[in-house]
Amino acid sequence: MERANLDWSNLEFQYVKTDYHLEYYFKDGKWSEAKIVENDTIELSIAATSLHYGQQCFEGLKAFEQVSGKITVFRVDENARRMATSARKILMEPFPEDKFIEAVYKVVQLNRRFIPPYGTGASLYVRPLLIGTSGIVGVKPSEEYLFLVFVTPVGPYFKGGLKPIRLLVEEEIDRAAPLGVGDVKVGGNYAAGLRASKKAKSLGYNEVLYLDAKHKKYIDESGPANFLGITKDNKYVTPASSSILPSITNKSLRVLAEKEMGMKVEQRAIDVEEIFDFKEAGCCGTAAVITPVKSITYRDREVVYLNDNEIGEVCRDLYDHLTGIQLGTHEDKYGWNFEVPMD
Ligand code: PLP
Ligand code: COI
Repeated sequence: MERANLDWSNLEFQYVKTDYHLEYYFKDGKWSEAKIVENDTIELSIAATSLHYGQQCFEGLKAFEQVSGKITVFRVDENARRMATSARKILMEPFPEDKFIEAVYKVVQLNRRFIPPYGTGASLYVRPLLIGTSGIVGVKPSEEYLFLVFVTPVGPYFKGGLKPIRLLVEEEIDRAAPLGVGDVKVGGNYAAGLRASKKAKSLGYNEVLYLDAKHKKYIDESGPANFLGITKDNKYVTPASSSILPSITNKSLRVLAEKEMGMKVEQRAIDVEEIFDFKEAGCCGTAAVITPVKSITYRDREVVYLNDNEIGEVCRDLYDHLTGIQLGTHEDKYGWNFEVPMD
């Protein structure tokens, strides 16, 4: 198999068309088999519920070429479950979890020439998407759905990879309400955050750090990733909140912090004032992996954790453990890697 001619070590987090994607249709109460599609466009009713009323949800996970040459996807079972949870929350037909895993394997196999080689720091990002397709102008759930999954080779989400980022605590814009849909992966949450992100970037920050919408006091998360802090007494602390996405990366890091690094882990409400006492902070997610936080600005105060190009010791250790498991250089004790059968 010849690999695609790409500059693997310098990929950014952006869409590159690959060879095929898969489509599955829900109609008359059942899901179709996979349709393999070369074209990367879809035809859709102009009245589709996904277009008008945001009836859509998506996922994001990564496939890796490991040091041994094996191709694996990381915790795909968790993404399958989370997507079903997202779907149910906005009254969509969930895509069956076992079929989700099969679909991910199949789309990776079909696009194998786009899997970045081991050692390049890049990976194959897998993007499953579920949308309501019925043309219904009334506000009600669709009867028909399209589940599709595509892949695209990616580098780090934040430019420069492990380069530390500057966060701005956002007080004027909310991403999600406490009893809303911030805890599921629906597109509307990202649309809601665009103007906050734009504002932060225009002021020279890399991203926003949201506060909880009700009290404006507790840390929620960043735009595309969860937040974690490391206290001076070496605890891993991360927000418990009904308006943040339950990150699979964060869930994995909590295990690694506790079991591999002997740290105490706390998932609880974090008062924004606590940022001034942390020794390190990070953003974590599939795309972000662990991105070290250089500084956080809250009103007229800024806390600086790192110099340019630095990464804190604890974040470095967490990063090495996580990426070591993903790339097969560390033992996968917890069964997080799913091998994609390649023949
Ligand atoms: N929070 C938000 C808003 C996200 O979009 C993501 C990315 O998926 C995450 C957190 C991290 O979640 P995960 O680690 O499951 O990718
Ligand atoms: C991911 O990390 O997979 C995400 O979906 C974040 C996204 C905003 C790129």
